[in-house]
Amino acid sequence: MTPHINAKENAFAKTVLMPGDPLRAKFIAENYLENVSLVTDVRNMYGYTGEYKGKKISVMGSGMGIPSISIYAYELFNFYGVENIIRVGSCGAYSDKLDLYDIVLAQGACTNSSFQENYHIPGTFSAIADFDLLLKAYNNAKDLGIEPHVGNVLSSDVFYQDDVNAWKKWQSMDVLAVEMESYALYTIAANLGKKALTILTVSDSLVTQKETTAEERQNSFTKMMEIALNL
Ligand code: ADE
Repeated sequence: MTPHINAKENAFAKTVLMPGDPLRAKFIAENYLENVSLVTDVRNMYGYTGEYKGKKISVMGSGMGIPSISIYAYELFNFYGVENIIRVGSCGAYSDKLDLYDIVLAQGACTNSSFQENYHIPGTFSAIADFDLLLKAYNNAKDLGIEPHVGNVLSSDVFYQDDVNAWKKWQSMDVLAVEMESYALYTIAANLGKKALTILTVSDSLVTQKETTAEERQNSFTKMMEIALNL
């Protein structure tokens, strides 16, 4: 047990899928996995372990933002022997090449957070996905007939930005989209010698101001899950 996870030792598989929403974790467990059991429920941040195509796999909510995912990722990697965390989330498009529901594989993550100060690095740490996971996810997507966008994302500490044009600076650096967690996930994985990847579905666009509905998001989510579950 850890301060935020009340699962028994060995309760998690080596690979954990992490949506932001714990009810999404419940949905994945109930709809995609077999022989599933709930392994943790502290603060209703549900975590489940089951099987997909006969292979043990876990799914757990991360919550929103860097502080939240950093707690769960650290505890899973450090205390539960987890080797791979695959974040499955949503993002806001910064690039005009992205349409709603497109899939983004976050090759790297930039941030406006001070998270890296925790590590006292004498410079700027570039947070990147594990290459093997990235390559496999890319190939899985292609096999499913999906053309994923691969590149940089911004892991922002702020959802409601006071300067409504600030995102254009990131766009000018070819940052594809914004979300709020991957920089911490990738940094923690690097620091602990573990593997991580973020797969995102575009839920809104800063370029076109278009947004998806919750119901539409649910449907588009299937593509992302198939890429992630077959890693
Ligand atoms: N996740 C999905 N859309 C987002 C946005 N516009 N900003 C931050 N995180 C997001």
